[in-house]
Amino acid sequence: MRLLSLRLIISLIVGITLVSSGFSYYEVLGEKRTLRSDLERRAALLGESLAGNVERSWNAGDKERSDRDLQRLVQRFGNREHLMGVVIYDQQGALVATTPELAKTLTVSPLVVTQAIAQNHEQSAFLKLGKVPVHILALPIRRKDEVLGGLAVVYDVSYIRAQSLLVWRQSFFRVVVQVFFIVLITLLIVRWSITGPIARAALWMRALRTGKISFQEVPDLAMFRPLAREVATMAESLSHARSAAETEARLRDAAESLWTADRLSVQLRTRLGDSHLFVVSNREPYMHWRDGKTLDVVVPPSGLVTALEPVLNACDGTWIAHGNGNADAETVDAYDRLRVPPDDPRYSLRRVWLTKEEEQGYYYGFANEGLWPLCHIAHTRPLFRASDWQHYQDVNRKFMAAVLEEIKNVAKPVVLVQDYHFALLPRLIKEKRPDARVAIFWHIPWPNPEAFGICPWQRQLVDGLLGADLIGFHIQSHCNNFLQTVDRVVESRVDWEHFSVQRQDHRTLVRPFPISVAFHDDQPAENNNHGLHYLERTALMRSLGVEATFMGIGVDRIDYTKGILERFLAIERFLEKYPSYQGKFTFVQIGAPSRTHIKRYHDLVAEVEAEADRINWRFQGGKWKPIVLLVRNHSHREIEPYYRAADLCLVTSLHDGMNLVAKEFLASRVDESGVLILSQFTGAARELRDALLVNPYDIDQTAEAIRAALEMEPEDKQLRVRRMRKEIKEHNIYRWAGKLITELCELRLDAPEEVHEKSRASVSVA
Ligand code: G6P
Repeated sequence: MRLLSLRLIISLIVGITLVSSGFSYYEVLGEKRTLRSDLERRAALLGESLAGNVERSWNAGDKERSDRDLQRLVQRFGNREHLMGVVIYDQQGALVATTPELAKTLTVSPLVVTQAIAQNHEQSAFLKLGKVPVHILALPIRRKDEVLGGLAVVYDVSYIRAQSLLVWRQSFFRVVVQVFFIVLITLLIVRWSITGPIARAALWMRALRTGKISFQEVPDLAMFRPLAREVATMAESLSHARSAAETEARLRDAAESLWTADRLSVQLRTRLGDSHLFVVSNREPYMHWRDGKTLDVVVPPSGLVTALEPVLNACDGTWIAHGNGNADAETVDAYDRLRVPPDDPRYSLRRVWLTKEEEQGYYYGFANEGLWPLCHIAHTRPLFRASDWQHYQDVNRKFMAAVLEEIKNVAKPVVLVQDYHFALLPRLIKEKRPDARVAIFWHIPWPNPEAFGICPWQRQLVDGLLGADLIGFHIQSHCNNFLQTVDRVVESRVDWEHFSVQRQDHRTLVRPFPISVAFHDDQPAENNNHGLHYLERTALMRSLGVEATFMGIGVDRIDYTKGILERFLAIERFLEKYPSYQGKFTFVQIGAPSRTHIKRYHDLVAEVEAEADRINWRFQGGKWKPIVLLVRNHSHREIEPYYRAADLCLVTSLHDGMNLVAKEFLASRVDESGVLILSQFTGAARELRDALLVNPYDIDQTAEAIRAALEMEPEDKQLRVRRMRKEIKEHNIYRWAGKLITELCELRLDAPEEVHEKSRASVSVA
């Protein structure tokens, strides 16, 4: 820093001096020019009037008298400002009359006078008389046309030099003062804006490195703030890497084989070799939303996103999804790609654009008014419109084009298609790229063949799915339902021993892969503190304007399959049956509005609000109310404190493929407390046997479960949560991805590889 200051000081001194000297030089030149021309003007005036007088007094006849007159004349003019004197010469250059000051120096006529006489014309020159700088104006003395002699008007010009020196001196002082203040101000700015923040940054980075503070505490580092954010992110990544390495070491020590993000990325690198992972889903992991000048990044509420994001983070693949944020198009590059997560980019997101009509027909129509209610037994009638089906096919083809574009230069790509939006996509991709390993994971339940059979296009859907090499469901019973459907709907051979389907020379494996969440076991020790949870709860309730001793939590998209109304009825029943909990138990329902362009979903938001209102109105009093309904999308970070503070979590889906809320709740219970009340109709109920399992349609049973949860012995709670956490820790999302991709990569593909080279050449991307 000292060196920087020294350099700055030297550069400023040199710079300012050069610039000021330049200006001073021109100022002096100007001053000189003005003084000289002023002098010349005065000399000309004097010379003119003097010459007239001399001509009149010059008497050629009487030389003696004439000389006397002339001598008197020059003496009369001799005492003007800066005038040294006046001299008169005759035609031969001999002195005729002079002022005494010049009597000694100008005895002989100077060249300038001789020239004026010879040329009969006024001349002037700046010269030196001895050491004195002078200006001489020489004029010819005439009578009629005859030149009688010459007149020299001599000025002392040493004052011009003195004046220039004065200007130089003034500018020297000016430079000194300027340099002083500019250097002073610059050094102060350097100190405030550079040296100070750098010193603070160094202290902060040391504290970060030694783990004394958290990454969120970024000091005010003035213009280094963007750098500080980068450093904080880097420190966070380093700290994660450190804790991952420690976990790995711990696991190696304990000879355990838990799946972690690092293990998954090593596994994927080995499995994929030179290839690359491509994930396709309708929902994108990050949406960009613009509101005026503000650009926000939104993580949509979706179990699929929650599950897949850690996988992509671990293995830097490409996620292809529908870009439907209103600012999505302005944040992609020329190839519709961008790197995400936005603050710590680890993988690529390729956005696919859909028209309003396509989105309406494919997403709202066929996928969510047709397939969603078809696959969820929740007593909402599916709607099948031929126009929606047409859009569904078109959009599947559009995504095929995007996938083919992305995998164009990748040999043996691994493609994981997600969910009911893309039943046709596996076959479409395999037809063009038989060398691709394609799996589809169906995140929702698969109903029995009778229920599925009402879909007019069931054959095409099943056929599209059977294009995949591997089809995954959450649980075995969904696999069984699917295989039974295949058996009934298409010409194929179902192998019940190996859970596979052989159709037209292509074999598809059908397997259960229970999806999960990332389980972080490395939470700070202070989280494991019951007192702290109590404080958190009180603070949370206060922030909601409610006072209560017990708290329950529910987190869902507002969807009719989630059993939110049944849950509210159970809470009402519980308060009715156990009035001592009135005034004490509050249930916080976080509800993210979802698919609200569909009337059924739109109406449901109003129904849920009305039901919460009705129950609140019935029971509430003072600062207490039974239900706090928060209708908006909450980030994971916002939800986490509710999970940690709640006495119980209610998951009452009428039908659910897996339900990751149940797993997220348990994963965040570092304190090994809290009770999970879980619908028996969720996939999660197969794994989380220590939850209080309920039939959500049985309102009394759920009400009883709430009481049981609130009155459960702490040891019992701990035992149950500990066992379920162990289950999730061992069967986390990394294991899910690791198993699914390993199974896919180990499959023997039925197409020989040369075929793929040829097909690559023939792929035309529409
Ligand atoms: C379920 C589906 C996902 C979907 C999510 C959110 O979990 O299986 O595919 O992304 O709901 O629904 P949305 O329609 O908002 O994507």
